Amino acid sequence: MINKLVMATNNANKLREAREILAPLGIEVLSQREAGADCEPDENGVTFAENAVIKAKAVYDTVHMPTIADDSGLCVDALDGRPGVYSARYAPKGQECAKLLDEMKDIPDDERSAAFCCTIAYIDENGTHTMNGECRGKIGFEQRGTNGFGYDPVFLYGEKTLAEMSADEKNDISHRGAALRCLYQFLKERNGD
Ligand code: IMP
Repeated sequence: MINKLVMATNNANKLREAREILAPLGIEVLSQREAGADCEPDENGVTFAENAVIKAKAVYDTVHMPTIADDSGLCVDALDGRPGVYSARYAPKGQECAKLLDEMKDIPDDERSAAFCCTIAYIDENGTHTMNGECRGKIGFEQRGTNGFGYDPVFLYGEKTLAEMSADEKNDISHRGAALRCLYQFLKERNGD
């Protein structure tokens, strides 16, 4: 019976979202700091899954408790999936949207499809599992909205950018929300419900 797990992050938003989604299972989610592990491994994988496993394993090897970690990024079809796993390193923080709009300035509207992708890795004494979530949309021609972070102001889901949505609206359709809901099902089955 899993009733406690560690999330390999200290990011308050990621922790809140995981706690909300897993609460109905009675599972407590600790940050890595709360669990006594402050590791920052090199995220040198070439896929989201590799990086999620690297992060989860670093914490699991310290705490020996069920551990989850996520890795995510933006994959633009016209850029052959870039920036992908390099999304956080594509431009200095706060300049990623401007750089992406500039790189895509000559790409027409019907070729601007993109997806936010997220993989969650779960590790316990029985092994490693990964779960994926995706949010498909397109890249606009300008930045809109002030909520969210990263590429949210240029990512259109329907008529709105993710930066024009409330946190609850975004969680319902986001890549991280989708991967967390897969994790919820996995843990529910593990706990025999
Ligand atoms: P990480 O998985 O938290 O390391 O995120 C990787 C990078 O992908 C972030 O720094 C953002 O640039 C981008 N990213 C991931 N998820 C989102 C999102 O929901 N909105 C906007 N940008 C995101």
